[in-house]
Amino acid sequence: MDSLRFFPRWRPDDPYQVIGLLRMINDILAANPAASRWLEIGSYRGESATIFLGFPQIVTLDCVDHLAAAADILRSKFPREIAAGRCRVRQMSSAAFARQAGELDVVYIDGDHSYEAVRADIAAYSVKLSPGGFLAGHDYHSGYPGVIKAVEKWREHRPISVYADGSWCVRMPI
Ligand SMILES: C[S@@+](CC[C@H](N)C(=O)[O-])C[C@H]1O[C@@H](n2cnc3c(N)ncnc32)[C@H](O)[C@@H]1O
Repeated sequence: MDSLRFFPRWRPDDPYQVIGLLRMINDILAANPAASRWLEIGSYRGESATIFLGFPQIVTLDCVDHLAAAADILRSKFPREIAAGRCRVRQMSSAAFARQAGELDVVYIDGDHSYEAVRADIAAYSVKLSPGGFLAGHDYHSGYPGVIKAVEKWREHRPISVYADGSWCVRMPI
């Protein structure tokens, strides 16, 4: 299987790309079982979206990706979830979707991993979160110093959780 998260090609025996994200979702839902409105920036092949949609507590998942190829993959992977209104494919830039997005409980940033882009996504979406909502993302590790720098400059003294797959999560004040 050619995959980024399930049996990744650089380490096919590594289950932690999946386990780390499962743990993050589980922690979020344990802290707030009513966290139902989720958004992923950068859904590409729908691998993290597959994991998110495995949780029935996630009532809506907006999948934002500007690539037409990503939108095609998502539409072919999740026809039932799209028909049910649970998965919403947003083929546009994260900046464009931020202008139309309503309130969200969880935002997972996995789009452009440069410092400037992650900083912009954090600025645009942290203000969309419900009280006690969660700002999260992928690839908080040495391979993506821009992700670490943007998250650290923004979060100041807020506690952060970092998971085995490099997912990170910060809870907003209640
Ligand atoms: C690392 S991949 C995401 C992998 C995905 N989460 C998965 O599980 O398959 C990053 C994705 O972010 C998208 N992306 C990058 N910058 C973006 C932006 N400014 N707006 C929307 N999507 C963006 C890319 O098109 C790419 O598909």
